[in-house]
Amino acid sequence: MNSTPTRNLAMELVRVTEAAALSAARFMGRGDKEGADGAAVEAMRLVLNTVDMDGIIVIGEGEKDNAPWLYNGEKLGNGSRPLVDIAVDPIDGTRLLANGSPNSISSVALAPRGTMYNPGPFVYMHKIAVGPAARDAIDINASVKENLNNVAHALGQKVENVTVVILDRDRHLDLIKEVRACGARIRLMPDGDIAGALMTCMDNSGVDVLMGIGGTPEGVMAACALRCMGGNLVGKPFARNEAEKQRAIEMGVDFSQALSIEDLVSSDDVFFAATGVTNGDLLSGVDYIPNGAKTDSLVMRGLTGTIRQIKATHRLDKLDLISSVQY
Ligand code: FBP
Repeated sequence: MNSTPTRNLAMELVRVTEAAALSAARFMGRGDKEGADGAAVEAMRLVLNTVDMDGIIVIGEGEKDNAPWLYNGEKLGNGSRPLVDIAVDPIDGTRLLANGSPNSISSVALAPRGTMYNPGPFVYMHKIAVGPAARDAIDINASVKENLNNVAHALGQKVENVTVVILDRDRHLDLIKEVRACGARIRLMPDGDIAGALMTCMDNSGVDVLMGIGGTPEGVMAACALRCMGGNLVGKPFARNEAEKQRAIEMGVDFSQALSIEDLVSSDDVFFAATGVTNGDLLSGVDYIPNGAKTDSLVMRGLTGTIRQIKATHRLDKLDLISSVQY
């Protein structure tokens, strides 16, 4: 079927993540997580409100960070069509940024209204993410061994050559043991499993699989990107304790429900943008130059599968004269 090309909202979203990254990058290594996140939130919200859309935040800052802005349910955009769900993560890896460590990014995604998974107050999930070659090889209910053997087979590799990225958390000690028992390689990362999931889809990232328990909002965000990139992400909600499990049961949440990438975002008409804040494997961080700064971003669209890398030079001396965002 031929039809006229439609508007690529991701091209507008990159301005949003660039603004957030530029604002937050000033906080690199200053040990101020709240200040960094606050700067990114303010810039992101300001620019998101200029986008031609009628948006509602489904994945916001609210549940985990108690943020007053970009909370779940907030309406954003200039109110014109299309009607969209919004996922924001102004900074994934706020601690990384505060410490001046690699891999913090700013990201945002849009999908048609009603198509993003809303985790409510249950903010953690089990996740397995892979790139396109292994997209049919993962099953959240299968054992670590079975998953890694299937991924290795799909990649035409020995399990010993497969690299698994895992958040460095005590809750993953058993998972790490199991992966080691399979003979696979492990890369522990301090934070930032959106970047971790995206790296499974990037050539030369050296990462094949992401495994472990991380934020559900980050899971939905990564699912939006992986739909564009042709990868896969599967999951299952995770209760941190018995009280949380009970509360979930009362609210009708099923913690045994396997979540497919389509459950996390049910439309292919999805847009995603991310900008590097600190230097990382996925993206370069904000780099200051005389009178300005350079940014490195990824911009994607699910409908077409187009992935753009946008390297931009910003004239901060000029922006400071016209913008209410503090760069
Ligand atoms: P923040 O930047 O919002 O702190 O998130 C960082 C992160 O590492 C995510 O990438 C990940 O999904 C989540 O935290 C894991 O949560 P926790 O740090 O509680 O284990």
